[in-house]
Formats: sequence, C-alpha cells, structure tokens
Amino acid sequence: MTMNNYAKARAHTNIALVKYWGKRNAALKLPTTNSLSLTLDQFYTDTSVQFDDHLTSDQVTLNNHRLDEPAARRVTDFLNIVRNQAGITTKAIVKTTNNVPTAAGLASSASGFAALAAAASKASGLTLNQRELSRLARRGSGSATRSIDGGFVEWHKGIGDRTSFATQVAPADYWDLNVIAILVNQQPKKMSSSEGMQLSQTTSPYYHEWEKLCQRDLKKLKIAIKNRNFNDLGTIAEENAMRMHALTLSAAPDFCYFDADSLKAMRLVHQLRESGIPCYFTMDAGPNVKVLVEPEHRESVVSTLQAAFGPDHIVVAAPGPGVQYFR
Ligand code: ADP
Ligand code: DP6
Ligand code: CO
Repeated sequence: MTMNNYAKARAHTNIALVKYWGKRNAALKLPTTNSLSLTLDQFYTDTSVQFDDHLTSDQVTLNNHRLDEPAARRVTDFLNIVRNQAGITTKAIVKTTNNVPTAAGLASSASGFAALAAAASKASGLTLNQRELSRLARRGSGSATRSIDGGFVEWHKGIGDRTSFATQVAPADYWDLNVIAILVNQQPKKMSSSEGMQLSQTTSPYYHEWEKLCQRDLKKLKIAIKNRNFNDLGTIAEENAMRMHALTLSAAPDFCYFDADSLKAMRLVHQLRESGIPCYFTMDAGPNVKVLVEPEHRESVVSTLQAAFGPDHIVVAAPGPGVQYFR
C-alpha cells in the first residue's frame, strides 16, 4: 500500500424539510421520492480510515467504543462497496466520533456515512467527484447522500444507482436561518429509520398519498427557497414532517417516534406562532424536535425553549458546510 491508505473527513448532519421515508430498492437505497434538506453546522461526525495489510478484519470504534454487531456489520458492508470499487481487499481501522447523539433522530447516519464515504474512498485511493461521492454515501444511509454538500440540498431519486444523488440547491450562506434543536431524549431509538420506513411503506394505507404529496411539497419548497419566503418554508416543512409521522401512526403494527416532551415542544411552537413569532417545527425518526426560525426572532424562541426544557437541552444551529478533509 502507498502512503495514501489513510484519510480523515468531517461531515455534518442534515435536517430534511421534505423528507425521505421509503425505498424502492433496499439494497441500493434508492428512495421512493425526492427529498430536500438543510445541512447543519452544530452536528457532525469525524471519521478516519486506515487500510492496513496486516489486519484480518475491519476494526471499527464509535466514540472510542467497539461498535455493536449490526452497526459494525453495516460499516463493513459499506467498506466492501468501497473496496470493490477500488479493487482492493485490505481491511481497515475505522475511528469515528459523533458530535451528535447516535440513533436519536438527529441524523447520525447521515453525517456518519457521509464522513465514512469521504474518508474511506480517499484512503482507498479512489478519486471521486461530488456526484460519485454522494452516490457512494447513499449506499451507507440514504440521508447521507445529502450530507456531502452544505446548505440546501436536494436528493434526486433517479432511475437507478447512477442517477440517484444529491445536488446543492443553495449554499449555506444563501439564507440566514436557524434550526434550534430541542434535545428531549438522546437515547437510541427502538425502531431504526430503515425499519420504520420499511414498515410504513409496506403497511400504511396512506403511503401512496405520501409519495404524491412529497412531489407537491418539494415544488413549493423550492419556490419558497428561491424567494426566501420563511413562512412558506416553515409551513411546508412542518406539514411534511407531520405527514411522515402519520405514516408511522397508520402502520401495522403502529409505532410512534414522539415522546411526551416532543408534543410539549410542538405545542410551544404553535403557541409562539399564535403570539406572533414566526417559527415552525420539524421532526425526524426520533423524539427530538427542531425549530426553524429567522435570526430576528431567534432569541425570543431560544429563551422560551430554554425555560421549558433547560438550557442544556437547547442547541442553536445554522446552515452548515459540506464534507471537509483533514490533512
Ligand atoms: P439517526 O436518526 O441517528 O440517523 P438511524 O436509525 O438512521 O438514526 O441510524 C443510526 C445508525 O447509524 C446507528 O445505529 C449506526 O448503525 C449508524 N451510525 C451512526 N453514526 C455512525 C458513524 N459515525 N459511523 C458509522 N455508522 C454510524
Ligand atoms: C426521517 O437515511 O436514516 O430522517 O437510508 O435506511 O439509513 P436509511 O435511513 P435514513 O432515514 C432518514 C429518515 C428521516 C428523513 C430524512 O432524513 O429525509
Ligand atoms: Co438516519
């Protein structure tokens, strides 16, 4: 091996405003719909990959602990895709650190697999362009497709592996916005995103309607972004999130990502809005709520949320950058 067999990268999480919730090809992680997200500056993963001829198996640590079996398997499966592409069989030492709670609905799989895709491909000697890297990250976790770029990012569902990747709609500095994360529960969820979307897709009677709605929501969202129309952006994001959660409630067996405190947070956002402060919530596959707000109203929303949930549970994020490499 050459000196090239080591690389380290950082990728940020993203929060979908029009969400991805279902696959039409599980092996290739091809989605049923397009989705559109905002990359966040406060939540990210750092991952280093060292390919080493002396290893007989991959060794993966997350936050300095050995990964449990299904999670380690997922990383090795992903490394096999990279090895295949690079024409090598060498095993690797992977060290990854999440600056985001893992498996709590704050998109650790997005930053995790985007950082791994970047580090592993570089360490393997591959030189991938943005589009190829986005396609590769998709094979680890669908949402990771959108974490290669910063700012507003759209994932095109495509017609196959070659056409399913993400492109930037607008860079991070295009719009001065905030996403306030309310950390109501940082424990790993019981139902992973992969399992949850699969169950929704196969059992919810509303699933077909969801596919149609996403197409409409996406069109409207792109216009809202173009016009920097905050109320439209927030309305579309909040409605789309609730429609996604309706797919979990209507699945068989039914399941739910809300905690009591998630409902409390959503109610507070409605109250703030009724009192004339424009803010909107969105929620992914986990109990933690994110609130969209423009800077001029940020402080009043932050202080209300801090009073309700405690200052330690509130993180103020802004649009973040795409993948970065460490030297
Ligand atoms: P989340 O809401 O955090 O994205 P998911 O259910 O989509 O939750 O994915 C969580 C899974 O993603 C973890 O159980 C683990 O398998 C994987 N994951 C999270 N962080 C990393 C990381 N840094 N490196 C590799 N895999 C990761
Ligand atoms: C609710 O990308 O985590 O966050 O592709 O199975 O790894 P897999 O799922 P994942 O699903 C994300 C679901 C979501 C919505 C979104 O990010 O678009
Ligand atoms: Co995820």
